[in-house]
Amino acid sequence: MSHPVVTLDDVLRILTDNETHAARTLNMVPSENAMSGLAKLPLLLDCYHRYFFNEGDHSDRWHFRGAQRLRELEMGLTVPLLEELGRARYVTVRPLSGLNAMTLALATLGGEPGSTVVTVDPCNGGHYATPSVARRLGLRVEFLLGQDPHDLDFDHAADLLRRVRPALVYVDQSHCLFPIDVARLVDVVRAASPSTLVHVDASHWFGLVLAGVIPNPLDAGADSFGGSTHKTFPGPQKAVLLTRDHDIERRIRHTQDYLISSHHLAATISLGIALLEFRDHGGADYARAVVANTKTFGRLLSERGTTVVAADRGYSAGHQLWLDTAADGVAPKLASDRLARAGITVNFMDGLPGFAGQGVRIGLNEPTYRGVTAADLPELADVFTLALRDAAPADMLADRTARLRDRPRLGAPVHDDTPLLSLAMELAAGALRSRPAVLEPA
Ligand SMILES: Cc1ncc(COP(=O)(O)O)c(C=O)c1O
Repeated sequence: MSHPVVTLDDVLRILTDNETHAARTLNMVPSENAMSGLAKLPLLLDCYHRYFFNEGDHSDRWHFRGAQRLRELEMGLTVPLLEELGRARYVTVRPLSGLNAMTLALATLGGEPGSTVVTVDPCNGGHYATPSVARRLGLRVEFLLGQDPHDLDFDHAADLLRRVRPALVYVDQSHCLFPIDVARLVDVVRAASPSTLVHVDASHWFGLVLAGVIPNPLDAGADSFGGSTHKTFPGPQKAVLLTRDHDIERRIRHTQDYLISSHHLAATISLGIALLEFRDHGGADYARAVVANTKTFGRLLSERGTTVVAADRGYSAGHQLWLDTAADGVAPKLASDRLARAGITVNFMDGLPGFAGQGVRIGLNEPTYRGVTAADLPELADVFTLALRDAAPADMLADRTARLRDRPRLGAPVHDDTPLLSLAMELAAGALRSRPAVLEPA
């Protein structure tokens, strides 16, 4: 076996190259987002290394005491902000990612092995992993189906629920242009199978839900909801679950105790900072702009001759658009390669509902967080279309993309003269030095 000789200088060079490239790139992968530098700061600090288990601050339960001074940041910042913005009474911040939250929700609420879970057919946008995770937990799986790729068949749902009486309906949408009508689905569940719980995995919608742009699943009658905090929500790669039901909260806590040990305390603090910025520095405006920008961008691409799915319904009610570039004579992988050379990152993938082969999936969430406004969209649509058709030199298009990337991002304004910035930089520099300087508390 050959061992590559990579020095620390090489590592820093690769990271620097990537930063330089990223600073000129617009990421339009809808499952990803960015967050502020302030929110990333905890990942450099001592809190990154600490376990935290003593949520209740019991004096005899600080077996791991490194987090003792940090408890307030989870229990007084991240958790209450999630309860407030998520309109929940109880929150767990233990899950590490959307899939981890899915595993926790299915293991807690899916019933004993042999019970049935009903979830959204992947042909209607359900996450590819949900059936496999459920089966691994010993659960049977039945699917909610749709009359078309964007709507559920509620009559079929009622028949299915009456027949199989599942422990849980797990409502998830991974490929999603329009949110499922959770209120209507809950009504169907309550009438057809009253003892069934409803959990909504809102991973893709999470930022839009916290901003009130998409109905809150708990207001719509679901028993619990949750999902990743890094798709439409501009936060760390992590996930959460929320409920108003004390018994569900108790059951989740019991299960998470053996499914999750370290919940990545630093990322949890990052989440708190991101939530604070979201609440106080334009989160609702960002979410409204994501939806408006997505609809507008669908129309602009369509006007320029690209086949955008669901034109008859306004293209999207969220952050995703699906492009059938193969119908326009450009294979999705080639489309993605051409766009990447022009500084635009998109998904090409199998499994988009209604597609026979691969398609291109894009999102306006990260561009909007990066400060791309409605006024920028015609230029972005021009660059995008020229790149798709290979109709202009890629380096010239990449320069145009880089100019669009050069916008002030949303969130708390941090300038060179902000006192917060100098303290944050001292903290970061301290973390990088072999022997950190001792800083005065702010
Ligand atoms: C509905 C849903 N659940 C779970 C996940 C997995 O999330 P993560 O990548 O954070 O593990 C996704 C990712 O797309 C998703 O859409």
